[in-house]
Amino acid sequence: MAETMKTHGAGTLRAADAGSEVRLAGWVGRRRDHGGVVFVDLRDASGVVQVVLNPEDAPASEADLRGLRNEYCISVTGTVRLRPGDMANPDLPTGEVEVVGTSMTTLSAAEPLPFQIDDRVEVDEAKRLQYRYLDLRRPAMQDNVRARSQTIRAMRTVMDDLGFMEIETPTLIASTPEGARDMLVPSRLRKGTFYALPQSPQLFKQMLMIAGVERYYQVARCYRDEDMRADRQLEFTQLDFEGSFWGQEDVLATLEEIATRVTRDLRGVDLDRPFPRLTWHEAMERYGTDKPDIRFGMEIADLSPVFAETGFNAFAGVLASGGSIRGINAGGLGLSRSGLDGLSARAQELGAKGLVWIIAEEDGTFRSPVAKFLNDAELPGIASTLKAAPGDTLLIVADETRTALEVLGQIRLEIGQPDGHDELAYLFVVDFPVFERNEDGDFAPLHHPFTAPVDVRQMREDPGHAISKAYDLVLNGSELGSGSVRIHDPIVQAQVFETLGISDEEAERRFGWFLDALRFGTPPHAGFAIGVDRLVSILQNVPNIREVIPFPKTQSGGDPLTGSPSRVESKQLEELGIEVRAEVRAEWAADEAAGD
Ligand code: AMO
Ligand code: AMP
Repeated sequence: MAETMKTHGAGTLRAADAGSEVRLAGWVGRRRDHGGVVFVDLRDASGVVQVVLNPEDAPASEADLRGLRNEYCISVTGTVRLRPGDMANPDLPTGEVEVVGTSMTTLSAAEPLPFQIDDRVEVDEAKRLQYRYLDLRRPAMQDNVRARSQTIRAMRTVMDDLGFMEIETPTLIASTPEGARDMLVPSRLRKGTFYALPQSPQLFKQMLMIAGVERYYQVARCYRDEDMRADRQLEFTQLDFEGSFWGQEDVLATLEEIATRVTRDLRGVDLDRPFPRLTWHEAMERYGTDKPDIRFGMEIADLSPVFAETGFNAFAGVLASGGSIRGINAGGLGLSRSGLDGLSARAQELGAKGLVWIIAEEDGTFRSPVAKFLNDAELPGIASTLKAAPGDTLLIVADETRTALEVLGQIRLEIGQPDGHDELAYLFVVDFPVFERNEDGDFAPLHHPFTAPVDVRQMREDPGHAISKAYDLVLNGSELGSGSVRIHDPIVQAQVFETLGISDEEAERRFGWFLDALRFGTPPHAGFAIGVDRLVSILQNVPNIREVIPFPKTQSGGDPLTGSPSRVESKQLEELGIEVRAEVRAEWAADEAAGD
C-alpha cells in the first residue's frame, strides 16, 4: 500500500536501492555537524539510516538545519547512495548506504529530552515509565513490542488452524476463584455492590463448553491484586483455551503446537517433540521445585541412607523426627571459605536449619567444617552418591523433607542457572497434588477447585495424597502456564468443595449458578492458560515482564505516566454510595503536610 508521507522505511534501505529517490519520515536519533554538513541518524519503526544534509544543496533553510535537535520529527526527500567503502557501517543493516537529502521538513519539534533514546544508556525505571512514550522509541523496546505482537499472532494462527473460536468473556463479573485477591469495581446502578475483574476467564470458558462451543480460545486480560514480582503484574495477559471431549493429552499436544510455532516464529528454532515430562513428585525430588530449570543438571540426591547410623547429632535428630538429608554436587565452584559460609547463611535465610559444605580434595580427602563429626563410611558414601570428582563442592541440607528440597532447589538455581543463554528448555510437569496445606493448615486447591482428581474416592479418604489431572508448562525454570482436566460431574464438584471445607450454603452462594450449569449435560472438558507476558519476556531474554508490557505498573502498583491509581471527586464516590474512611483521609492529610 503506497503511503503518502513516505516511500520507504528508513531501516529497509540497502545497497540495491542506491540511486533511488526516496521520501522518509521519522525521528532524529543523532545528529552530527561536520564542517557545515549535517549528518542525521533518521529512525522510524523499521530502523535507522544515515541522512546527509548539505547546506549547499539547500534541503532546508539554514535555521531549520541548524535547529535540528534529537527526537525532532522530520520528513526527508533525497537520493540513496552507496557510502564510500571505508565509511560503511557493518553494525547497521543500512550501513552500506546513506540518503542525500534534497529537502527536509520539520514535522514537529521536541523539547530537551529527560533521557537519551539509546539502548546503551541506563535510565532509572521510574523515569522510563513516566516517559514511556519516549522509552518505547528505543530499538530494544520496539523489538519487545514487536515480539509480543508476533507471539500473539503466532498463537492466533495455531488456534485458528486447529479450529478454535475466539470468544470474548466479560471483565465485569462475579468473583472468580484463582486464589488471589480480586480487583473490585463498584456499581453505580446497584449501590453498595461490586463487580470483580476476572482473575481468569475460568468459569466462563467452562460455561462455553456447556454451551456447546467445543473449542474456545481468547487472548484474555486478567487481574489479580497480589504482590508484584519480576514475573507478576496486577494485570496481565493469558492465552486461554479450553476443549470439550478432551483429556490431558489433547491439551498437551495443543501446547506443543503453540510453543513450537511461537518459538519458530520468534527464534527461528525448531523444538524437539514431545517435550520432556516430569511428575510433580519427580520434579520436587530432583529439583526441589514444581518448575524446574532443566538447562543444567546439579540434581538433588537423597543422602538419608548414608546417614542412617550417623553420630552427627544435627543429622540424626532430623532423621529421627521424620525429615531427610539431601544434597547436590555443585561442581567445581571454587568458592573461598567465606563464599562457602555465605551459602550456609543463604540456606538459613531460605528457611533451612543449616547447610553443610564438603570439598572433595585432589588427594581424595574431604574438607568440611563438620568432617570431624562424620565417620569413615559417611564421607565416601556422600561422595559416591553425589558422584563427586576431585575439586567438587558438595552441599547438604538436613531438614523436613520439603524444606530440604526447596532450599537446595533454590540454591541450585542461584549457583547454576545460566544467564542470557539462547537455550529454551520447555517441559511439562504433570500429576500435581489436588490440595496443599495453606498457612492455617487447611486444605486449599493447588490449582483451582474445578480441577478433576484422578480418583474421587481416594481424594475423600486421603486428601493429602490425592493426585489431580492438573499440569503445568515450564520454560527455563519459569511457570509459563497451568491447566487441568475439569470436573464435569456436579456431585464430584460438590465433594471437592466439601473437602475444601466449603459448606453447601457457601458453595451455593458463591458458585450455585455454576453448579446449576453443570447439571445440564456438561461434556468432559479440559484446558489451559499460558502467561503471554512471561513467555515473551523469556523469549526476549529480559528479566522482568515489565519490559514486554507497553504500559506496565511499578512494583507498588502505580503508573508514573498517568498517575493511576488516583483519588476521585467526592461526587463520584457519592454516586457510588462509597465513602473513604476517616483514617484514610487522615493519612492523606498527613502525606500532604509532609509534602508528598
Ligand atoms: P494460573 O492461575 O496458573 O491458571 O495462571 C496461568 C498463567 O498465567 C500467568 N500469570 C501471571 N502472569 C503475570 N502476572 C501475574 N500476576 C500472573 N498470574 C498468573 C502465569 C500462569 O502460569 N484459569 C487457570 C488456567 C486453567 O486452568 O485453564 C489459570 O488462570 O504464566
Ligand atoms: P551445629 O552442630 O549445630 O553447630 O552445626 C554444625 C554445622 O552443621 C553448621 O555448619 C551448621 O550450619 C550445620 N548444620 C546444622 N544443622 C544442619 C542441618 N539440619 N542441615 C544442614 N546443616 C546443618
